[in-house]
Amino acid sequence: MKEVKTVGVVGFGVMGALIGLNAAMSGYRVVFKELNDDLVKSMYEKGIVKPLSKRVAKGKMTQEQMDELAAKITGTSRYEDLAVCDLVIEAAIEKMDLKIQVFAELSAACPPDTILVSNTSTFLIEKLMEKVDHPERTAGLHYFFPANVNRLVEVIRQRQTNDDTYEALMEFARQNRKVPITVKDFPGFAINPVFIASYLVLDSFYGDKYNAITLEKLSQEALGVRFGIMWVQNGAGLGTCYHAGNSMVEYLADSDVGYPQVPESLKSKFEAGELWDIENGEILADPAAGSQVKDRLLGAIFAISTHLIEKEVVSQGDLELGIKTSLAWPKGPFTMMNELGMEEAARLVKVAVAAGDFKLPQKFAAGDLTPWEL
Ligand SMILES: NC(=O)c1ccc[n+]([C@@H]2O[C@H](COP(=O)([O-])OP(=O)(O)OC[C@H]3O[C@@H](n4cnc5c(N)ncnc54)[C@H](O)[C@@H]3O)[C@@H](O)[C@H]2O)c1
Repeated sequence: MKEVKTVGVVGFGVMGALIGLNAAMSGYRVVFKELNDDLVKSMYEKGIVKPLSKRVAKGKMTQEQMDELAAKITGTSRYEDLAVCDLVIEAAIEKMDLKIQVFAELSAACPPDTILVSNTSTFLIEKLMEKVDHPERTAGLHYFFPANVNRLVEVIRQRQTNDDTYEALMEFARQNRKVPITVKDFPGFAINPVFIASYLVLDSFYGDKYNAITLEKLSQEALGVRFGIMWVQNGAGLGTCYHAGNSMVEYLADSDVGYPQVPESLKSKFEAGELWDIENGEILADPAAGSQVKDRLLGAIFAISTHLIEKEVVSQGDLELGIKTSLAWPKGPFTMMNELGMEEAARLVKVAVAAGDFKLPQKFAAGDLTPWEL
């Protein structure tokens, strides 16, 4: 198994800087690449110097500790300088052609055994690696925002990823004090298909009857969370949510999985540059109307989770763990189904299917009501 000591990061924006910081804090040397020397300087200032200085000022870190950490991270604008890396994590902007080109450059600049991974949220890893020599050393390493705090990492094995690469990445994730789960190369991987479906369904109710604060409350109640799905969307940015939703629909809506459409409400909020208003307005107090939303929400979550298992994208245990770790839901989908009872779970899945959100998973088509083994 390849031992990772030096990590490259391509693109030192929001995610790249947090990934780099996390690796440096775990003892790795980090070399990041930005587009030009000005960006190398400004992104280092913004992503490393500024946040660490704040920690020093607050007494959470000494100046010596900051200097030691910051010295582990260096920047460059040239791919050649990444040749010293054992692992390179690509975190450039979400554009497919650009990423394919980045990996072609990395393949040319790095030794043939450097592990190359992408932090893409939406593209298939195999596609991004089409110009890489020795694709068996490629995979996906999908972090969640904020990457220095959120502990989940999806390790994505594409068709060609070999065992050595996979094991080195699992070990790297553990050394970074992350919780790694193993996922197949599938649109959105394992967590986002569940999360994105939940906000698309919820947002589709938005209108005169259901305001954002009501939908926020209903999602809190349905999932048992303190911060609901509308709040999380605001944090991620409605533009990101809108684009990610479209990408999932493009990949899956016409497949045997299906996917909820992107509602007009999300598009218009994003285009208006607004967020969901979860501070103002009256919360709708109509239990029947509330149940209608909760049934569709849970039905969609149960349907997509079952599809992911049937497609062997992820194991039941890893999906359960991944959802709890990355989204902070107290219970994963399989525990929720078991606790509601499989008859009720089947009813909810059929509500989602009747609404056109998903195709009926095989388990429920066969009338199999055995609880999930946890
Ligand atoms: N922001 C999130 O919540 C989040 C979560 C998980 C995954 N991701 C994924 O992480 C990636 C980065 O997202 P982000 O939000 O950090 O974007 P960002 O726009 O903040 O950062 C991207 C950086 O890449 C740089 N860049 C572009 N082309 C480059 C090149 N050829 N060489 C070197 N640097 C280059 C840009 O200058 C910019 O600083 C995307 O693929 C995104 O889908 C984002």
